[in-house]
Amino acid sequence: MNTQVIIVGAGPAGTLLSHLLGRAGIEHVVLEQQSRAYVLGRIRAGVLEWGSVEILRNAGLGDRMDREGQVHDTINIAWRGSEMLSIDSQRLIGRRMMAYGQTNIQEDLYEAADAAGNTIVFEAHDVQISDPARRPSVTFVANGVSERIDCDFVAGCDGSHGVSRAVIPAGVRTEFEKDYPFGWLGILSETPPLPHLLYANHQRGFALCSMRNPMLSRYYVQCPLTDTVDDWPDDRFWTELLARIPADKAAQIQTGPSIEKSIAPLRSFASEPMRYGNLFLAGDAAHIVPPTGAKGLNLAISDVHYLARAFADHYERGDDGYLDSYSAMALRRVWGAMRFSWSLTMLLHRFPDMSDFDQRAQEQELYHLSTSPSAQIAFAEQYVGLPLES
Ligand code: FAD
Ligand code: PHB
Repeated sequence: MNTQVIIVGAGPAGTLLSHLLGRAGIEHVVLEQQSRAYVLGRIRAGVLEWGSVEILRNAGLGDRMDREGQVHDTINIAWRGSEMLSIDSQRLIGRRMMAYGQTNIQEDLYEAADAAGNTIVFEAHDVQISDPARRPSVTFVANGVSERIDCDFVAGCDGSHGVSRAVIPAGVRTEFEKDYPFGWLGILSETPPLPHLLYANHQRGFALCSMRNPMLSRYYVQCPLTDTVDDWPDDRFWTELLARIPADKAAQIQTGPSIEKSIAPLRSFASEPMRYGNLFLAGDAAHIVPPTGAKGLNLAISDVHYLARAFADHYERGDDGYLDSYSAMALRRVWGAMRFSWSLTMLLHRFPDMSDFDQRAQEQELYHLSTSPSAQIAFAEQYVGLPLES
């Protein structure tokens, strides 16, 4: 069997790429190792940059997002128990964000794939990529049968534990990495969220109040990496969350049973370049950012926007300019988000070896952010999203 592009991974990066290639009339196959239900069951990102909103709208994927997503312009940050600053992105830079869950985007993408007849092979096991530098082919096992597909290009959209990145020889790759000594314990609860995102720097550790819809809240607390969800019955979670945010905000929070609970480690990672011959990496396959800046899904969307445009130019006009500049262009945005997510992580968390001096330094930076319009503008530009290159 032959096709033009094989996409490995049907998370947001792989499925959005499939959708965009389908619209451009580019033949492709998507291979996903998990079942559709499993991918839809993963609870992850919640905040879209405006650039991501526009990419999804322009791809015809905006109907449900515009109906159900919540447009936001305020980010609150609390520290020292009762201090709080508000960043109004609409007032400062004239741009907003959208709260719309990754789960919903994934549902929209699978529905769009069904409607367009794009092929996603779920439960495709043992995916192996051969000869990525010249004439790639991919083998896999589906329904117990071994298959092989030859193709012009492979798009590695298989997340941080996928097989694509490892196909690039170690001597060609440079990896940049930073681990953080804590994780985020997250819960979903069917209770009304606070009206605005609230991040908290607290002596007891970081906390975040976010939302999915008017009756679905998402909350996180920083926890040790050695903890498991069994260490965190709901009562303990709520007590800890409420202790880390200002009393007036805590009083507004309605607690209730969690309907999902998971722990995610925090990590910064980038692998360069994002291209090796005819293999292109996109999304978490190439880079991971800690969730503090809400950037991971947005980077997956912007990578795929660049990559789909590059494939379209190759097939429609025989122009490889965008394919050749893909890695450098994508990495400029990646490093913008990488730096921002790292600095926000350093600013808002409690580190195990932190001294009172370090805590004061964090608080001073937050105080400066609360009083300096130019610092707020710089924050808002990065939180709401760096511009896409044309
Ligand atoms: P993935 O979603 O990981 O998808 C990769 C797919 O490839 C998976 O379906 C996987 O099963 C499949 N796969 C893997 N290996 C193989 C293989 N060998 N063969 C075939 N298929 C394979 N981002 C934001 O922008 N905003 C946020 O607010 C935000 N919050 C987050 C909160 C948490 C708790 C977490 C964990 C993440 C958060 N993120 C956020 C990050 C965001 O969820 C990821 O960056 C995003 O999922 C990346 O999409 P992706 O398609 O590149 O990778
Ligand atoms: C979320 O809603 O899941 C979320 C929001 C903001 C973040 C991370 C996660 O920084």
